[in-house]
Amino acid sequence: MWLTLLYSCSGGAALLYILYRWVIPSIVQYHAGLALMWHDVIVERLLDVLTRSTRPQRLLAAVQKNATRGDPRSVVKAIDEFCRYTEWAMNVGDEKGCILDSVVSEVNPATVLELGTYCGYSTVRIATLLPPDAKLITLEFNPDFAVIARQVIAWAGQEEKVHLVEGSSGDLIPKMKEQFGVKSFDLVFLDHWKDRYLPDAKLMEECGLLGKGSVLLADNVICPGSPDYLDYVRNSPKYRSQYFKSHLEYTKVEDGLEKSVFLG
Ligand SMILES: C[S@@+](CC[C@H](N)C(=O)[O-])C[C@H]1O[C@@H](n2cnc3c(N)ncnc32)[C@H](O)[C@@H]1O
Repeated sequence: MWLTLLYSCSGGAALLYILYRWVIPSIVQYHAGLALMWHDVIVERLLDVLTRSTRPQRLLAAVQKNATRGDPRSVVKAIDEFCRYTEWAMNVGDEKGCILDSVVSEVNPATVLELGTYCGYSTVRIATLLPPDAKLITLEFNPDFAVIARQVIAWAGQEEKVHLVEGSSGDLIPKMKEQFGVKSFDLVFLDHWKDRYLPDAKLMEECGLLGKGSVLLADNVICPGSPDYLDYVRNSPKYRSQYFKSHLEYTKVEDGLEKSVFLG
């Protein structure tokens, strides 16, 4: 009888593991709401409780274990592998990351502003492509994420090029000229909370931080989506805007980046 009980318990545990590891992820990867609910709410909370750590801490541990110190490509690769095979996270990801890389290379910016650092994944991607004298300012209002991002950026050897500022975009954008000595930004990567894209774009215009030819690149314009921002940059005579179709990070749900050139 004990043997039967043991067999049923281990059979049940194996079934649960298969569901958690393969079946549910492969079903939800085609559906935006289900994918975000599964990865960003259920799995994250479950693993936080079971491991007594946070997702950013687990991501950092994966970097320290699998990436070579001072090699940014290995840091990006370690994060992508962690997020594809172990635990999803809200970085721009490998697929949209290639679009980000190509825009950074095309613009060849001397000054970059990133809104939303999280663990520093996109920061490392951008910093790697910048010339040595370029300036990259990245804003993050969650101090727990900022602590992790600093370590990820340092592990990638990019800390000299990056200025991570803790605080909210709405408070910091008006201080960019005075406190950070920036005249205008050649490139802005918008990847913070989606309801801030439009007010922050308008705030950057008001503060004179966008010059003729400045490029705004916005992530997640389809999923979770930022319809008011899209409507603005696509219909305003101040911008020439273009959509780059892709997928939500590490899934097959449609998402994309919007590149908008400020025409002055
Ligand atoms: C999608 S994640 C950024 C991912 C990151 N760009 C990457 O690809 O690796 C969004 C981040 O923006 C931060 N955030 C959201 N609203 C913000 C705001 N108004 N000011 C500063 N940070 C913000 C969140 O705490 C979160 O870490």
